[in-house]
Amino acid sequence: MSPLHVVILAAGLGKRMHSDLPKVLHRLAGRPLLAHVLETAETLKPAGLHVVYGHGGERVRSHFQDKPVTWVAQPEQLGTGHAVMQALPGVPDEAVVLVLYGDVPLVRAGALEAVADAASAGKIGLLTARVDTPDGYGRIVRDDAGRVVGIVEHGDAGTEQRAIREINTGIMAVSAKRLRAWLEGLENNNRQGEYYLTDVIARGVDEGVEIETVFPQSPEDTVGANDRVELARLERIFQRRQAEALMRGGVNLSDPARLDVRGRVETGRDVSIDINVVLEGNVRIGDRVYIGPNCVLKDVDIGDDTEIFPNCILDSASVGSSCRIGPYARIRPGTELADSVHIGNFVEVKASIIGAGSKANHLTYIGDAEIGSGVNVGAGTITCNYDGASKHRTIIGDGAFIGSGVELVAPITVHPGATIGAGSTISKDAPADKLTVSRGSQQTVKGWRRPKKS
Ligand code: UD1
Ligand code: CA
Repeated sequence: MSPLHVVILAAGLGKRMHSDLPKVLHRLAGRPLLAHVLETAETLKPAGLHVVYGHGGERVRSHFQDKPVTWVAQPEQLGTGHAVMQALPGVPDEAVVLVLYGDVPLVRAGALEAVADAASAGKIGLLTARVDTPDGYGRIVRDDAGRVVGIVEHGDAGTEQRAIREINTGIMAVSAKRLRAWLEGLENNNRQGEYYLTDVIARGVDEGVEIETVFPQSPEDTVGANDRVELARLERIFQRRQAEALMRGGVNLSDPARLDVRGRVETGRDVSIDINVVLEGNVRIGDRVYIGPNCVLKDVDIGDDTEIFPNCILDSASVGSSCRIGPYARIRPGTELADSVHIGNFVEVKASIIGAGSKANHLTYIGDAEIGSGVNVGAGTITCNYDGASKHRTIIGDGAFIGSGVELVAPITVHPGATIGAGSTISKDAPADKLTVSRGSQQTVKGWRRPKKS
């Protein structure tokens, strides 16, 4: 087998995006377009992975520092043929070159393998698609026997050729040795004054090389992102596919069109997800979990049987099993909730560990705290964790009861079984199993009258 070298073209300006961001850094499902292409390319285990970059090159490169990529500069965009030529010095003659586009992110490995296999067998492998509106694409020209004889760019095509609905997806594979020879002979005497990669097809035909066309599994696989309308279309295709994969895996989605997955999701059995949910980063959801409408979950691990009610935001946290979160709860990074924890409405928890069965049901801020099990945190309780310079910890022992409207001025420890009276501001440690209260004594003022307007 000839070694496979993948060349990804990503130097184009992306003029129609009207953006300062290089086109291949625009995001699809939360990740740059190029990340999707690189990921698919990597599944082919290529001997070489080359990315041809131009506009905003440094930004593109720094984004993919950890990828095993050979970066190839193409300072002037003189055409797809010229772009591929820039990468060839790094490709050995015995290799097969597979050309991909950085802005065509949904291509699947299976079709790419078929294209590369054709090249390994001494042919030119070409990924083509039949579409209803071929405008703008290169057309596949075949002879009477159905053999491919060339590709004509839209701008160079006559009326008859423009009626052809089989288009060039741009993805092709050919032996490096032949490609080198053909590209060196390229000319740019066409409508756009560019060096067309597509002209190598006619060269191959002249030399009697067979062209093997491969169709993608779905024509949607080769949709490119030339402007933001197309990008949004890609996003919908991608999201629909992810939602379908989740449903096929047993997840109940109230509406597959109203779930957005921007990362990787692992789900247990009988998970139910309501509408307008966003899942980001790495999300793991246990068995029988319910996620209510309008929740955003990023990098979280949710235990079995947990219910997350509407309008909750969870970020970089782990939630045990049989918990009840929300509605309107915010769980911030570094939070670990044990099993059967209840976090209710308008409760914010940050960088805190909360033990099994503990509850904070209403209007509370818990930050930098370590809370034992079976603790009740009353409504309106605040851990005062910040003194203006540093953050301090609040420790609450097992079985403690914190009354409503309590301020816990950290660093502070509330020992196990302690009860804190409602409305207290607690700035000294509270002993175990005793009632601690700090509040001004109540008085009723004699002879007081409400002021009246004069
Ligand atoms: C190209 C094909 C066309 C095909 C279409 C599919 C050629 C001549 N035409 O046309 O047959 O139907 O793609 O989308 O190949 N690029 C560079 N450097 C350059 C020029 C382009 O890196 O100098 C990159 C672009 O960033 C893009 C890709 O190559 O990722 C395709 O370039 P684009 O200008 O979009 O090609 P089309 O004219 O659409
Ligand atoms: Ca294009």
